[in-house]
Amino acid sequence: MQALKQHEIPGRVSLFSGKGGLPAVRIETAWSLAEIYLHGAHVTRFQKTGEPPLLFLSEASQYDADKPIRGGVPLIYPWFGGRDGLPAHGTARITSWDLTETRVLPDGRVRLRFHLPSADGPEVDYVVTVGSSLTMEFTVANTGTADVTFENCLHSYFHVGDIRRIGITGLRGVAYFDCLLAATRTETAETLRIAGEVDRTYQNTAATVEIHDPVLGRTLRVRKSGSLSTVVWNPWIAKSQRMPDFGDNEYQTMVCVESGNIAEHAITLQPGIRHSLQVEVDDLPLDRGWD
Ligand code: BG6
Repeated sequence: MQALKQHEIPGRVSLFSGKGGLPAVRIETAWSLAEIYLHGAHVTRFQKTGEPPLLFLSEASQYDADKPIRGGVPLIYPWFGGRDGLPAHGTARITSWDLTETRVLPDGRVRLRFHLPSADGPEVDYVVTVGSSLTMEFTVANTGTADVTFENCLHSYFHVGDIRRIGITGLRGVAYFDCLLAATRTETAETLRIAGEVDRTYQNTAATVEIHDPVLGRTLRVRKSGSLSTVVWNPWIAKSQRMPDFGDNEYQTMVCVESGNIAEHAITLQPGIRHSLQVEVDDLPLDRGWD
């Protein structure tokens, strides 16, 4: 903790001991408040002044050095999903990252840079910019001599008023792999409504996705670059009950809209090449017609 103190900025960036004693950083700007755990470089909170949080964080989350935090924005890397005998969704979310830089930008936003410690393999950095929106940039640079292939994903959990009443737009016409059916389908709905478990990987889409929420009276907007996969996930009732780190009823107030590069969109980098995945999360007043 002591070595991290050099990165504090009075009134803007402060270190604190988070749940489970894990070190964390609180960022305050003129517009917003954010919290990031070094464990997983995990953004656990982004909240604009006078508004409910934009990100969902489970009350049942465990805060343990070898477990991922449930909610916020887990960083999925270098693989998505299960791998025989290896941690689900990769190791980045259960690794303690180094905080390497904090600074206030001329426009008042606050930027933090994290580095994934690794003896070998590519250089992995994560830059989070907090202002009236939340911007996250995940960069992998192949500094070695052989090709490197990986999947990545910013597994964002969003806080919504009532899962049954939200509408998700931006995915019509996009082909997706439905994990529940183990089949590929194409999205036909202009507005995706959720009324049961959903676990879909939409492929070959760089589109902005919006979550329209009449209960909280806002639209959450997820803009991305360097990503061709979008995952939509809600565990619904039975899966929620099976998850030890997720409340039985929490599925009602969350939805994951995740941005990354998965399966056929896994990234291969030749030596000397880097890839950047960037996601910006913001909210807007709800358009007429959604309320
Ligand atoms: C989603 C997957 O991205 O993450 C789901 O599509 C999975 O299948 C979910 O259940 C949560 O995964 P985990 O490892 O955090 O429990």
